[in-house]
Amino acid sequence: MVPLHSILALSLLILHARTCVIATYPKTAFGVVGDSVARGYDPNLPPEFVTYYYTQTLDHFNYKPESYNTFQQRYIMNTKYWGGANSSSPIFVYTGDESGITVVAAIAGFMVELASHFNGLLVYIEHRYYGESVPFGSKEEAFKNSSTLGFFSSEQALADYAQLIIDVKKNLSAHHSPVFALGGSYGGRSHCLDLLTPTANDPDWLVAQRDTEIKIMEGWIANYNA
Ligand SMILES: *[C@@H]1O[C@H](CO)[C@@H](O)[C@H](O)[C@H]1NC(C)=O
Ligand SMILES: *[C@@H]1O[C@H](CO)[C@@H](O)[C@H](O)[C@H]1NC(C)=O
Ligand SMILES: *[C@@H]1O[C@H](CO)[C@@H](O)[C@H](O)[C@H]1NC(C)=O
Repeated sequence: MVPLHSILALSLLILHARTCVIATYPKTAFGVVGDSVARGYDPNLPPEFVTYYYTQTLDHFNYKPESYNTFQQRYIMNTKYWGGANSSSPIFVYTGDESGITVVAAIAGFMVELASHFNGLLVYIEHRYYGESVPFGSKEEAFKNSSTLGFFSSEQALADYAQLIIDVKKNLSAHHSPVFALGGSYGGRSHCLDLLTPTANDPDWLVAQRDTEIKIMEGWIANYNA
């Protein structure tokens, strides 16, 4: 479970990240996104990143035989700035949103700034059903009917991120490296990683924090629907 100081640091980072986005791009962040989409964004990998594929579980939430099907989930990693596991250097995860991960990478320069400042490892994970991380072999199959589309949900995507992050940490022996999940817009729900995964051993402050956050979100949803 993520300790309080990590959550506070994450909040600060998000504020910092916003500032950087504005500082890096003279236009608004939305202007940049709009332009890049209109131009038919650059699908190339950004400098310093390497592409990896992870054999991801199709269905994280039940034990039916077909739930053990897998698909290849793309993620890209930049190790240039990482201080390494021995110094417990941080890991910054970008939780992908509704586009291919290289599209995100092209506009997430602030993440690279964070990594160079804090000796961080950068891991950007593509959202299932987007880019190259499409189950059932092809987009046609994946979007064909409710049997195949049923695995296309935010809950499954969050579980993908959790499983992949745990595996990256294991492979790098980075057990003590704190992980900061960042995302923008729909992908910004990465914060829900904490909110949605209560355990029996959660300390009181986390339970209280979760209740507060859920109330705030319910308020937003109520306003949105009003
Ligand atoms: C990290 O620490 C381990 C155990 O002390 C040591 O064997 C290893 O060489 C260290 N790795 C680096 C990159 O310093
Ligand atoms: C969806 O398509 C697959 C493959 O053709 C088929 O096996 C499955 O029964 C279909 N599911 C529904 C709900 O139509
Ligand atoms: C971790 O290493 C295993 C064994 O090499 C590999 O199969 C797996 O894909 C790696 N995990 C990630 C997240 O890359």
